[in-house]
Formats: sequence, C-alpha cells, structure tokens
Amino acid sequence: MFSNTQIQTLNPPQRLLMGPGPINADPRVLRAMSAQLIGQYDPVMTGFMNETMARYREIFKTQNEWTMLVDGTSRAGIEAVLCSILRPGDKVLVPIMGRFGHLLAEIAERVGAKVHTIEVPWGEVFTPEQIEKAIVDVKPHVLAMVQGDTSTTMNQPLEHIGDICQKHDVLFYCDATASIVGNDLPADEWRLDALSVGLQKCLGGPSGSAPLTLSDKCADWIQKRKKVEAGIRTAEHTDGTEPFVRSNYFDLGMIMNYWGEERLNHHTEATSMLYCASECARIVIEEGVDNCVARHKLHGDAMLTGIQALGLNVFGDLNHKMNNVVGVYIPEGINADHVRGQMLTDFGIEIGTSFGPLHGKIWRIGTMGYNARKDAVLQTLASLDACLHANGYKGPKGEAAIAALAHYK
Ligand SMILES: Cc1ncc(COP(=O)(O)O)c(C=O)c1O
Repeated sequence: MFSNTQIQTLNPPQRLLMGPGPINADPRVLRAMSAQLIGQYDPVMTGFMNETMARYREIFKTQNEWTMLVDGTSRAGIEAVLCSILRPGDKVLVPIMGRFGHLLAEIAERVGAKVHTIEVPWGEVFTPEQIEKAIVDVKPHVLAMVQGDTSTTMNQPLEHIGDICQKHDVLFYCDATASIVGNDLPADEWRLDALSVGLQKCLGGPSGSAPLTLSDKCADWIQKRKKVEAGIRTAEHTDGTEPFVRSNYFDLGMIMNYWGEERLNHHTEATSMLYCASECARIVIEEGVDNCVARHKLHGDAMLTGIQALGLNVFGDLNHKMNNVVGVYIPEGINADHVRGQMLTDFGIEIGTSFGPLHGKIWRIGTMGYNARKDAVLQTLASLDACLHANGYKGPKGEAAIAALAHYK
C-alpha cells in the first residue's frame, strides 16, 4: 500500500524569484542538467571538464590555468579556498561590511587561522586606504573579502586592492558569489589570487557548484601543502614541505590533481552540476560578459526607478549599490510579512527579507540572471504596488511600473 506522499509527483508551484538569490534557473540550464550521465574518465567527460575550465576563464577574465569547480554550494568554494591557503595559525584579514564578511571570518576561524577583522556599518564599503592601513597593521598572509554582499546590497570596489596586496605580499581572495557577471570583476586585471563564486545569482543556475580560479602564485602555495591519499598514491608522489590541508574534500591540491592532466581520483564528479555550471557559463559567454553586466545594470536601475516612484526609500550608499539587488525600507505602519506573503500567494512573486541589523527593516529585491528581464521587473513592481496598497500604504499609487517603463525608453 503506497501512502499519498509516495505516489505524488514533484510539482513545485510557478514562482518568479525576485529576491537576493536563488533565482529561477535559465530553462537551458535545466535542460543541460537532465542530460544522461557518462563515466568520469570517459574522454568525452574529461573534454567537458577542460571546456568548463576554459569557459570559466572567460567568465573570470583570467588566464589562470587552475580554474575549476568545487562540488557544493558557494560556501564550499569559500571553504576550499580558505582551508587550502590558510595554515592553522596564519593571519588573515577580513574586512566585514555585511553577513558574508562574517561568514568568511567564521570559516577562517574554523580553519584555525588567526582572524583579524575591520568593519564598516552595513550599507557602506571600504576605501583602499582603510584596507591598506589594516594590512600594514596586521601583516596578514591572506586578505579575504566579499565583492557584492547581498545582505547589504553593497558592491565593494576592488580595482586597487590587488595592487595593495602585491605591494605587501599578501594573497588576495574574493568571494564574488553574488556579484559575478552582474558587476565587473576582471580577475587578472585586478590581480586577484583566488576568486570563488556560485551559480544561483547572476549566472542563472541553481546552487550546487562553486566555480573558482587560482593565480599561479596561489596554486604554487597550495602545492606546497600537497598530500596524496594512501589508496591512490604512487612512488612518484611526494608530500609538500608545508603542513597539509586539514580537509580531504576541500583540499584544492587534490582537486587540482583531479582536474589536471594526472586525473588523479578524488571525489566522484557531480556530473549533472558540471553540465549545469558549464551551460551557465556558455549562456553568459554567448551574450558577452560585459553585455551581461550591462543587462544587470539596465534592469537593476529600472527596478530602482520603480521603487523610488512608489515613494519608497532605498537602503545604503547608492554609489556602491550592486547592479543586481536593491534594499528597500519597509514603510512605517506596514506589515512586511503580509505584503511579502500576498505577493507570493496572490502573484507568485518572491522578494527577500533581510538578516542581522536589517531584519524587519528592509526587503531585498533582486534582478539577476535569467530574471534580469523587463517583464520580470514590471511584474514585480506592479505586484508590490498592489500589495502595498492592499495593506494600507498611502504613498503614490500605480506609478512604479510606469516609471520603470519610462526608464526603458
Ligand atoms: C556573497 C555570498 N557569499 C556566499 C554565499 C553563500 O552561498 P551558498 O548559500 O550557496 O553556500 C552567498 C549566498 O547568498 C552570498 O551572497
């Protein structure tokens, strides 16, 4: 006898996901994920892996050989980088401007690093001078920072940070999960040593794969911590001179051996996610990375214009707002949960709440990836307008979508 739950097919409701991510996946990505599996040493598969590496070099604007995927959500990429470059006791400087800076500090602490933080209030970004001063004071081995922190919607300028790191011989790592291809990030030009991302924002996929890239300097450092598992080790393998990486799964040295010419066995590749990550990159390359950033700016600005036409206040320093998400103050006297709930149940549109000091104060509305589109922006604005007024809002009525339409003209 089957219970009801056993015989029902999976049938999620139609939703337009306009929060800070995840967003609706591009249908081409979903199709790629349903392709049949092949073995992990099939030459076709290793060909796909090489092709994926090449595609992410284009996404990151880098020549780095070591450009590959870590299986897991974005924080798997963060954890892989931090545990591979930080030995226990190494100093790391983490500038914190929101929730995800705290996450980097937390992961570095678990790795056993000596974590030094500097902070700006949520809604602001750091100046290069603040970062350089802290580097001079702390003398860290690594600087770890977030580009676009979705918790605050701020986009940290990074173009001068790589030079500062080079000058002081510091490895420069950036988490650009939320900002990649929605905001500029040329990894080589800005001299990043390590960069990791996720698929579920502007790349238009689901979470579950973390593309990353490592400069030669960073990869050489990681190789100094090399350790090969006993069951696959041969007489030719020698250990590195530095203490080995404490995680097996996230040891980027072993992951490089697996993605590199040696194809030394590590984990079983999450093949469907490889297809997915590769297709996400292909779609962006087809559009052009710069065009993709420009599309996020166009639709992000249209959303911002509509929000302001609704009479709502926008959170944070607008000069440093990420293109792909906006923080909107919840108007006084309005029940935020009722408005969000009605948007979801009556319109099928999801917008985001917020964390920490901003919880209950702002909504976060995203325009990213497959949903950085005119129709998605207009539907969201019209729905927010209607739901706010249905819940007692006294500001401008019917203006939001019209203002956004004018922005597109
Ligand atoms: C900037 C940033 N870093 C890291 C993460 C964590 O990603 P995940 O939930 O995929 O592990 C997020 C998720 O929103 C993010 O926005």
